[in-house]
Amino acid sequence: MDLIRVKQEAEKLIQDVKSLIELDQLRIKYLGRKGVITLFLRELGKLQLEERRTQGELANRIKKELEQLIEIKKTELQIEEEIKKAQKRIDLTLPGKKTFLGHKHPITKVMEEIVQIFVGMGFKEKLGPEVETEWYNYTALNFPEEHPARDQIACFYLPTTDLNNKYLLRSHTSPVQIRVMEDNRPPIRIIAPGRVFRPDDFDASHSPVFHQVEGLFVDENVSMAELKGTLEKFCQEMFGSGIKIRFTPSYFPFTEPSAEVAISCVICDGQGCKTCKNTGWLEILGAGMVHPAVFSCVGYDPLKYLGYAFGMGVERIAMIKYRIDDLRLFYENDIRFISQF
Ligand code: PHE
Repeated sequence: MDLIRVKQEAEKLIQDVKSLIELDQLRIKYLGRKGVITLFLRELGKLQLEERRTQGELANRIKKELEQLIEIKKTELQIEEEIKKAQKRIDLTLPGKKTFLGHKHPITKVMEEIVQIFVGMGFKEKLGPEVETEWYNYTALNFPEEHPARDQIACFYLPTTDLNNKYLLRSHTSPVQIRVMEDNRPPIRIIAPGRVFRPDDFDASHSPVFHQVEGLFVDENVSMAELKGTLEKFCQEMFGSGIKIRFTPSYFPFTEPSAEVAISCVICDGQGCKTCKNTGWLEILGAGMVHPAVFSCVGYDPLKYLGYAFGMGVERIAMIKYRIDDLRLFYENDIRFISQF
């Protein structure tokens, strides 16, 4: 028997087979108990010793090869049948599955909204680093050496081997003022959103990480009245056109004069309620005219330039806007809360 011919014929038949049943029939035909190869091997004894060895080796090799080929084909056919079955099971008339679409976090949204209002008034968005040196965070902003805000318990210092700089997580966005003034000449009109860090306990109105938006305007003729007009416009866009604003004297090392800015209470419209502690006002930001010492630090002539700056907490604005009484809701990320924005 011409084993090679038998092998070639078998290979072709196996290749072309279309079903598992046909494949099994071929297996029986060649490798079954009465199969062509099986019978050949059984008859080997009738051959001469030398021929018996070569033919025997060849027949065994072909047997193995055909077995392997059948196994491979079997797997292929099984996969094909699975696919066919699955296709029959797909009901094209069923409605599609709705995928869950996420969206921006409410704090991000409010922060972007604040920035957009100021961009609409000609401010340019600027970002600064979250890790700052003590110089940018305090010294250049006219904080005296012994100022309590520099204390270990008032901000997060970072370990460093640098002997010339102390590093910390910025405790406010005001250092961006310094960085922008260092790199640019007036007129400057920037709005700087970002994360800030303070070692406060996590409670209904404090978080060790929160967000601020800083504003700075520097030019040759800048007045406190302009600051007031700009912030009034901002508050009306943010909280509604009926909102009133109030400036009260305050203190920041980097502004003089400084002001605390409040809006008429959004709950009681200034009548007095629990939210505004019966004052009719809600404090929302700090502001003032840039201190001459700050201008000197960045190499601006304090006699030539004037400027105003302001800084607000984003969480505070968001809480007032959406009447939320516990800031922790913003950080728990409970989807039932987050999805409402
Ligand atoms: N940096 C101040 C704070 O964190 C806010 C502020 C900014 C005040 C700019 C005045 C001018 O409280």
